[in-house]
Amino acid sequence: MTVSNGTARDAAVFLDRDGTIIEDRGHLKDSRDVVLLPGAVDALLRLQEKYRLFVVTNQPGVSRGEISAEDAMMINRHLDAVLREYGIDIERWYVCPHDRAEKCECSKPSPYFLKQAAADFNIALNKSFFIGDHPHDAMTGFNAGAFGIHVCTGHGMHHIGQLAWDILVFRDLYDASGWIMRHPDPVNDIAEVARKGAEIIRSGGLVAFPTETVYGLGANAFDYHAAARIFEAKQRPAFDPLICHVASVEQVMDLAAEWPEKAALLAEKFWPGPLTMILPKRPEVPDLVTSGLPSVGIRMPANRIALELIKAAQTPIAAPSANLFGRISPTRAEHVREQLEDRVDLIIDGGCCRVGVESTIISFAHDIPVMLRPGGISAEQIEAVIGPVARKPEKPVISAPEGPGMLLSHYAPSTPMKLVDKVEQLDDDPKTGYLLFTGWAGIPVADNIEILSPGGDMAEAAANLFAAMRRLDALDLSEIIAEKVPEEGVGAAINDRLHRAAWKEEN
Ligand code: TXA
Ligand code: MG
Repeated sequence: MTVSNGTARDAAVFLDRDGTIIEDRGHLKDSRDVVLLPGAVDALLRLQEKYRLFVVTNQPGVSRGEISAEDAMMINRHLDAVLREYGIDIERWYVCPHDRAEKCECSKPSPYFLKQAAADFNIALNKSFFIGDHPHDAMTGFNAGAFGIHVCTGHGMHHIGQLAWDILVFRDLYDASGWIMRHPDPVNDIAEVARKGAEIIRSGGLVAFPTETVYGLGANAFDYHAAARIFEAKQRPAFDPLICHVASVEQVMDLAAEWPEKAALLAEKFWPGPLTMILPKRPEVPDLVTSGLPSVGIRMPANRIALELIKAAQTPIAAPSANLFGRISPTRAEHVREQLEDRVDLIIDGGCCRVGVESTIISFAHDIPVMLRPGGISAEQIEAVIGPVARKPEKPVISAPEGPGMLLSHYAPSTPMKLVDKVEQLDDDPKTGYLLFTGWAGIPVADNIEILSPGGDMAEAAANLFAAMRRLDALDLSEIIAEKVPEEGVGAAINDRLHRAAWKEEN
């Protein structure tokens, strides 16, 4: 047992191995297949300043006979030596070799190894973290009384749909480590930043905060002047109404004059989550918030920081996406900083947005429910609960009385974008960028090519969409060619955003 910097550290970071520190390449038995993920070394170096590091890995391939116990140990010894060369000291490597069917006591999400580390190394689990790319990793942390964090590397994106909604998600180990270093007492730190944000909201200020869809730029929904600051900061035209975010159904009653049964059913099923409902408004909601419409958009976001902020503020928070009007929506705190840093009073960093496209909007302002914007919840999911909903017209229209959010040139990169049904081959021009759904076997890895989901996973594609658009947009390309994705599930929302991003070019 070593304590590298001489201080007695009693807090630990427990790390999954495959997909978190190294590339997930299946059952490893050849040390040449061990490839560190980008940023992993820097992440571990900075975590080590305050935390003792442990690896906890499930290797069911041992039980299944796909690798031997010695293979698993050899890989760990190899990686241990590689990390040691960088000055990183992993205190212990815990391996569960069992298959889930064996119902062993050590397989994640069991806290077995964390309890063992606590006893053997005097670790205070309530000050510790667990980071990994499988839902069981974060769960292991919480089961042990530590704080669990999910990363999008490895299979992290693929599993995002199975993750409990209150788990924080980060792009990779590096981003997660930065957040951990700034939040040594995460539960209290989140409560504290929510309290600080709430104070700003209550005094008429602006707070950018994470939600599961995109980051929001929030103000007190009942404060006309604060709402006006949102429009000013975003340079958003006043005819585009805001969505009000609530933390409880009671708060809906402060905003909406009616709560139809179908709306209640949808709330029951999909809240907290990426669904906004348009309902007749109460007179207390400022006209500016609803752009003069007699209805108000309401949703309960599935993000623990957002909900704590709204609860602490004790008022619904009106929030559009936290980007300049017409630009690409932000899915990480740094995206907000790039565009709005000096225009907001506080930016709360809550990692990355797991859904990645905005909420689905259903209007109850008419006799039958109408879907105004496709989003994180598909039309099929909604119809399964409340029966048929009418769809908005295929092509969005500019400033229709209802659905100004259907503005055509929305979510636009500054590089001209062309939308095609399918990209089948690449042009040699390095000034042309590509935004592809799955790509194909043997497609070159290149800076100007973004693949939303190599495995064709729609949720993963949605979560990657805006960050991919941003990255290509920053390359100073002459054109971005984007291809449509299948219209299924959240694919409809992806195609909708692509359409709008490409609109200038189409016309
Ligand atoms: O996922 C989301 O919904 C994100 C996060 C921050 O919650 N918010 C978001 O807000 O996408 P924003 O401002 O980008 O889109 C709000 C859109 C408006 O453009 C409009 O289409 C629709 O919501 N909307 C809001 N109130 C409405 C109303 N009373 N009637 C019709 N549409 C409304
Ligand atoms: Mg993993």
